[in-house]
Amino acid sequence: MKPAVLVTKRIYPEAIAYLKEHTEVDYAESDDGMSAEDLGRRIRGKQGVVSQLTDKFTREVLASLDGIRVIANVAVGYDNIDVPAATRHGILVTHTPDVLTDTTADFAFTLLLAAARRVVEGHHYVHSGQWTKWRVDLLVGQDVHHHTLGIFGMGRIGQAVARRAKGFSMRIIYHDSRRVPGTVEKELGLELVGAEQLLRESDFVSLHVPLMPETRHLIGARELRMMKPTAILVNTSRGPVVDEPALAEALEKRVIAGAGIDVYENEPRVHPLLLKLENVVLAPHIASASVDTRRKMSMMAAENAVAALEGRRPPNLLNPEAWETRA
Ligand code: DGY
Repeated sequence: MKPAVLVTKRIYPEAIAYLKEHTEVDYAESDDGMSAEDLGRRIRGKQGVVSQLTDKFTREVLASLDGIRVIANVAVGYDNIDVPAATRHGILVTHTPDVLTDTTADFAFTLLLAAARRVVEGHHYVHSGQWTKWRVDLLVGQDVHHHTLGIFGMGRIGQAVARRAKGFSMRIIYHDSRRVPGTVEKELGLELVGAEQLLRESDFVSLHVPLMPETRHLIGARELRMMKPTAILVNTSRGPVVDEPALAEALEKRVIAGAGIDVYENEPRVHPLLLKLENVVLAPHIASASVDTRRKMSMMAAENAVAALEGRRPPNLLNPEAWETRA
């Protein structure tokens, strides 16, 4: 008998086709996602689940699961899953790294450029018919080239952003609990600095840290006050890394000049003040949303789930301890 898999939300069709070749698929073919109750009910009798960042696998949810061998998340981030708790229950957890690195870095840079050069304001200005004459200081913004970019988190995506910044002749400083190898620092021209120095010296601050207790509200009112009044903050990591009300207030009072934001503390809700401000570019959590990348992410999650259910070590395993100790 084939193992049974729950797919909690719509993914690309080739991933469903692949899952169907290897498993019995219960497919929630909708973008709605499932309430905790629906998830609990529908997951019964399954051995695997292909989940998304909107599915919350808390310690309590994980304790209530019976027979689940793998949770394959269609995302590189996995703050929606209590991985240590999954490990205690012997559940393998996988994610989708690498395939989205360049796509996400492209988008972080897009937000940076859009906020610096006021692209969205320009778009609205033209669309609304307000553009009646050329003016020497019309929608003047900040230069990106030869300015300083501060990157929090120099992992895969942070490095890919640095690679783009190098092409803009930027000075690149970074802060991370782990120093990257000297060869990478040299290749990308990176300088490791303390968090405070990064905030004080950067013209642009881009966040590429995972959401963990240590990174929750990494950027709050105090940090925003340390930034230059001309600085721009870019967040494509996770919403709660930034204290959203504090950011909204800092943008309104021009404590910093602008922001490019893709992720929010309570998605899909956005702080009402952010919605009113012109000095922020807002996107609906789409940094990895290119057709190719979202297809690859869907497929990768399906492959991870099938590997685990066929007794092979899944390629993108987050908790190898659960694999070592499996029955
Ligand atoms: C991720 O992969 O973690 C993104 O936030 C969603 O693509």
